[in-house]
Amino acid sequence: MSFPATRLRRLRRTPALRGLVRETHLSPSDLIQPLFVTAGAGVREEISAMPGISRFSITEAVDEAGEIHEAGVAAVLLFGIPADKDEAGSGAYDDEGIIQMAVRAIKEAHPDLTVITDVCLCEYTSHGQCGFIRDGEVDNDVTVELLSKTAISHAEAGADIVAPSDMMDGRVGSIRYQLDEEGHTGVAIISYAAKYSSAFYGPFREAADSTPQEGDRHGYQMDPANGDEAVREARLDLEEGADALMIKPASHYLDIVRRVKDDTGAPVAAYQVSGEYSMLKAAASNGWLDEQRSVTEALVSMKRAGADFIVTYYAKEAALWLA
Ligand code: PBG
Repeated sequence: MSFPATRLRRLRRTPALRGLVRETHLSPSDLIQPLFVTAGAGVREEISAMPGISRFSITEAVDEAGEIHEAGVAAVLLFGIPADKDEAGSGAYDDEGIIQMAVRAIKEAHPDLTVITDVCLCEYTSHGQCGFIRDGEVDNDVTVELLSKTAISHAEAGADIVAPSDMMDGRVGSIRYQLDEEGHTGVAIISYAAKYSSAFYGPFREAADSTPQEGDRHGYQMDPANGDEAVREARLDLEEGADALMIKPASHYLDIVRRVKDDTGAPVAAYQVSGEYSMLKAAASNGWLDEQRSVTEALVSMKRAGADFIVTYYAKEAALWLA
């Protein structure tokens, strides 16, 4: 009698057998590409800490969005870099602001491409914090009002989905209520339900020019040490009307992706953030890692952990690999 009777290697023997029992599949339609749109004209400048990722002025962003759409990527997530910043971040909710103009231009050129907008004030405030500062602190409730105005102006410009990333309390409920009041009942909300106060956002802050002038974001973003709190954040956002929940960063937070998925059953997104991208790019460009295999492995792990879709700076590149 042969030993052992159960041999899991039998179904690993050939590519065809492995394909039959593969549990997790990755496709371009799972991926969302972030896009940095900047004021000005004729701009296409690479971000030094994120090789392969650039800031685009509107016309160039429209072209890039076309390539992303062509590659089969599900959606773009827009971040704006305005010409001017002020204390109240007023560029965020200006109907002629950078994002509002970019959404109109992209939707006009590529009506079938899903456009998501990041809703936050940090790229628009002179101090670089994600909200309105009163008595030396980010004032939650004033900020929620400004974020709601921002979300409405994005919806009016034609955004399909708004994605608040600020971590103020109550912002999902306020945004949902005000969108509905203004007749935007079909515009969905992906909330950054569990956004951690992470060092891995470093390269993004260079890209979006949004580093806080003073202090940090520990007073509103989550402590990386906490998991139960992420589940509470997720439940609250759902109660307030979120359509999908985002966990961010992704790679070091896969336990949170799984817990939030199991607890809520809601659509869950993982955000592979700038620092995760930069690490992979740096290792690949030094020849230390096989880029295609390591990036695909990281993305598949996020889906295996429970993510339904993934925001990643690799979206366009990965979609071309997967084609
Ligand atoms: C804006 C925002 C940030 C990111 C997404 N939305 C920056 C931050 O909170 O500092 C980070 C994305 C990334 O690192 O790729 N609030």
